Amino acid sequence: MSSLAEFYFDRWNDAFSSEIQTQAVSAVEKGKILYFPKLSFSVLEHEKEFLSPAWVSPKEKNISFNRNIDSLKCAECPLEKFEQLKKMLRRFSETAEKFIKQLLAPYAPDLQLGRTSFRPVEITGRMSSYRKDDTRLHVDAFPATPNQGRRILRVFSNINPQGQARHWRVGESFSEVAKRFLPLAHRPWPGSAALLKLLKITKSRRTAYDHLMLQLHDGMKRDLNYQTTVPQENIYFAPGTSWIVQTDQVSHAAMSGQHVLEQTFYLPVTAMVNPDFSPLHVLEKLTGRVLT
Ligand code: SIN
Ligand code: FE
Repeated sequence: MSSLAEFYFDRWNDAFSSEIQTQAVSAVEKGKILYFPKLSFSVLEHEKEFLSPAWVSPKEKNISFNRNIDSLKCAECPLEKFEQLKKMLRRFSETAEKFIKQLLAPYAPDLQLGRTSFRPVEITGRMSSYRKDDTRLHVDAFPATPNQGRRILRVFSNINPQGQARHWRVGESFSEVAKRFLPLAHRPWPGSAALLKLLKITKSRRTAYDHLMLQLHDGMKRDLNYQTTVPQENIYFAPGTSWIVQTDQVSHAAMSGQHVLEQTFYLPVTAMVNPDFSPLHVLEKLTGRVLT
C-alpha cells in the first residue's frame, strides 16, 4: 500500500473544490503523505546563491525563521544577505500557509504557524547521536518543545537545483509503532515535568503524552534491527515537488538530499475531522489513561 496520496496541482494559490478538500483531509488524517509532484517553489535568480551549506554554521542542520516574531537564525549570513534570505523564507512561509489553509480548509481557523526552515546541508554523512539521527525511522517528538497533544503538520518543497531527489523511508502505521514500543516505555520520574519546566529545559510542561512520544521516538531510533526489518517504503521526492505530512504520526526517515524548504504548523486535536486518528487518542486508547 502506498504511503502517498497524489494531487496534481501546479499552482500554490489554486482554489480547491470541497470534494478535493475532503479527500485531502481524510488522507492526511489516515497518515498519508499528501504529495504534489507538479507543485514547485520558485527560487528567484538572486536567491540561488543561498543554495549552499556555507550559510549554515557547522553546529546546525538548517536555517530557521520564525515569522511570528520576524526572527531569522543565520549565524553565517553577512548583513546584506540576511534580509534577502529572510525574504525568501517569508515568501515560502506565506505561500505554504495560504496553500494549506485552502487545501485543508476545515483546519484553517485553528492552524498555528510554527517555524520555517531551509535545509541546504546534504543529509548523508551528517553525523549525530542516535536521538538526533533523522536517517533512522521515527515519529517527531522534541525534548525541549512539548506539543501537549497538538498535531505537527509540515509542508516540504524540494528546491534542489542539481536534480537530486530527497530520499525518505516511510515505515509502519502509528498504531503499529505504538503497539510495538509502548510496552518498552519507561515511566517519567515523579515530579520531572515540573523540574524540567523550572530549569527551562522544556519551553512548556512536558505532559504524559509528550513523555510517551519521546519514548516512541527514542525507542524506534535505538533499535537497529527494527530499522532494517520493519515493512517500509522508499520514496524519492524529486526537485520541483512538494508534500505535506503529519510527522508526529507518519514514521519517517530522511536518507539523502539537499536543499529543501519546510514550514511547520500545529493543530489542536479538537480541530481534526476525526480525532481518533491522532497519536494522542491512539495512545490514550492503548494505555487506558488520559495523557494531557
Ligand atoms: C525529519 O523530519 O526527520 C527530516 C525531514 C527532512 O529534512 O527531509
Ligand atoms: Fe522527523
